[in-house]
Amino acid sequence: MSRPVSNPRHGRMRNLLSIADLGPDVAAGIGEVMTLTDSFVEVSERTIPKVPALRGRTVVSLFFEDSTRTRLSFETAAKRLSADTMNFSVSTSSVKKGESLRDTIETIEAMGVDAIVVRHASAGVPRQVAQWATSAVINAGDGWHEHPTQALLDCYTIRQRFGDIAGKRIAIVGDIRHSRVARSNVAAFTALGADVTLVAPPTLLPPSLEGWPVKVSTDIDAVLPTVDVCYLLRMQRERMTEALIPSIREYSNRFGLNEKRAELLPDHALIMHPGPMNRGVEIDAAVADHPNTVIVDQVRNGVAVRMAVLFLLLGSGTTWGGEADV
Ligand code: CP
Repeated sequence: MSRPVSNPRHGRMRNLLSIADLGPDVAAGIGEVMTLTDSFVEVSERTIPKVPALRGRTVVSLFFEDSTRTRLSFETAAKRLSADTMNFSVSTSSVKKGESLRDTIETIEAMGVDAIVVRHASAGVPRQVAQWATSAVINAGDGWHEHPTQALLDCYTIRQRFGDIAGKRIAIVGDIRHSRVARSNVAAFTALGADVTLVAPPTLLPPSLEGWPVKVSTDIDAVLPTVDVCYLLRMQRERMTEALIPSIREYSNRFGLNEKRAELLPDHALIMHPGPMNRGVEIDAAVADHPNTVIVDQVRNGVAVRMAVLFLLLGSGTTWGGEADV
């Protein structure tokens, strides 16, 4: 059983594996998700935050890596669209008895599902799943590769505060090397016309930045006064196989956003983080609770953005560039 991965040029999006799947005009694809998200934010604010848009559809969460935000917000999004949900927990599944990924996908699909939300520690697994599956596949984070719905909710959060992302100066600070969030965000922010600067020690940058339309700096104190958004990344110690920094304390001293450093930011600048945060490492506890910090907004918007993505993949009648009736 195989099917092509998404090809938006041939009609509606079939999978969301990377930001590039949003269409040949990525900015237009993101714009469509943003517009639809506005509708689902309104739905989420109702007394009964539920619409029948995906009644009869089934969404399964297939998480081979830990998650709080992504997993719960996809589940909430599916339920608010009246879809049925199935949760797959690797630790209590037959994967533990040696069942292969392919057999796991075929088993789940035999039960009748319409969308598979996949997180895996290895880059490329969602694309592989999409080649085996007949259901729509959504990448909920694969290794160092991409986390497209995180980038969409980040775009929505910036747009909500500033109205537009074009021309905004965004610093992405920290462990870029291991970050799927950074890869999806660079693709999305630059497609929308933002000016992106990566700020990290050289050892925490990707081995090659060829094709990345970004500036690079190792001097966070010089960059902070120039930005509209300071986007902090978690130090992904679970993906580090070698010592890339002298110590966490040294990293925190040189790159962490402490209260003194946060004063360098312009008054209007947003502080963002995909979560989970390591308070005291990349962000001080007091800065995490700063009025310009929009981390809770990011999480809140994640539900409506994921409703929009599920609706675009599974809903009836809308295509890229079309009107949605939610
Ligand atoms: N931002 C994010 O992906 O968080 P979780 O790991 O909690 O899903």
